[in-house]
Amino acid sequence: MGLLSRVSGYYGSVIVIILGMILAVRSARLRRKLPPGPRALPLIGNLLDLPRNHEWLTYVEWGRKFNSDIVHFEFAGTTTIILNSYEAINDLLEKRSNIYSSRPKWTMLNEVIGWGWILITMPYGKSWNTRRKLVHQEFNPKQSERYEPQTVKAVRNLLVDLLREPDNFYHLLRHMAGSLILSITYGITIKPAEIGDPAIDTADRALEGFVAAAIPGSFLVDYLPTLKYLPSWFPGASFKLKGREWGKDADKMLNEPFDIVKEQIVNGSIKPCFVSYCLERKNTDDADETVVRESAGAMYLAGTDTTVCALHIFILAMVCYPEAQRLAQEELDRVVGPDRLPDLKDRDDLPYITAILRSCAGNQSIHLL
Ligand code: HEM
Repeated sequence: MGLLSRVSGYYGSVIVIILGMILAVRSARLRRKLPPGPRALPLIGNLLDLPRNHEWLTYVEWGRKFNSDIVHFEFAGTTTIILNSYEAINDLLEKRSNIYSSRPKWTMLNEVIGWGWILITMPYGKSWNTRRKLVHQEFNPKQSERYEPQTVKAVRNLLVDLLREPDNFYHLLRHMAGSLILSITYGITIKPAEIGDPAIDTADRALEGFVAAAIPGSFLVDYLPTLKYLPSWFPGASFKLKGREWGKDADKMLNEPFDIVKEQIVNGSIKPCFVSYCLERKNTDDADETVVRESAGAMYLAGTDTTVCALHIFILAMVCYPEAQRLAQEELDRVVGPDRLPDLKDRDDLPYITAILRSCAGNQSIHLL
């Protein structure tokens, strides 16, 4: 018996050493194929290097340090590649999108919080395809003309608000973007900025949870997915409690406005909006009510921070480049004159301003610009 256990112990150690060598050789081979990145430690990888906030600053710093616009870091067996330049993004995500455009496995977001239904974090597949098709059919530059009245109204309300409280521009821009998206998606009217609206508050809380969980490295469960099975009372599993709270907001954001629209359909008061157009199409297409509900639920999340960010870039650009601001104002005065406000029909006659807006918004082709 003693001899047997010594022999099996011997073979056990040999197997462990061989496995260790295989893993070391594999990871060295993998590393040789990877772009540069901070030196990873055994087991914990780059855990100690990962930024907790403003992660883009660290990524740019790594790019400079390793003299490469593509860098990588490792954590718990997962490799993350960071693209630090427009060229690298375009080469990999546009030109080779069929290989590289699926989404990573987001355990915290999709499984713990429950965002698995949202297009932006959904991996390629049938569900993704059906939702994306619907969004692109009902929300593209041509169709966006249908949302013009709501857009013009929201912008005019914003101008009045900005005149009243210019220093509060951050909050006012968010309110404008949020209320416009909710109104074109669900046809609902949102209360003015000075009063505030519960639909915006819910969506903002949901968005806050989404953004916090989307930062790479913020939750260990993204790297060790089996942790999702821990009960929430287990030491170190407070992420489950957080996930549950954020999940409630995500759920409310998905269901409450959609259920209002459904009631409006029953009592005949529904206004034309993304959901109403999709529900009309539903009868002829493979998109069922769940697909419409989930595609609509993605709008606030996809459209608010992005729009506010583009508007902030616009304001910053106008402050930093007064000459560009002067030329833009000159174009506006020449084309529109002093007696009225511009609207979307003027856009073709305002090429300089359109170019500025496109550069601030990142020239997104599917969107309203
Ligand atoms: C300047 C403003 C915006 C920018 C820079 C922007 C940027 C983007 C980007 C980069 C994607 C692709 C994400 C990915 O594939 O992972 C995307 C997707 C999407 N955006 Fe926007 N967006 C903006 C405004 C909006 C607005 C206002 C809405 C809705 C009201 C919206 C709705 C969507 C939706 C539904 C998707 C997913 C569709 C798809 O995957 O094809 N976006 N956006």
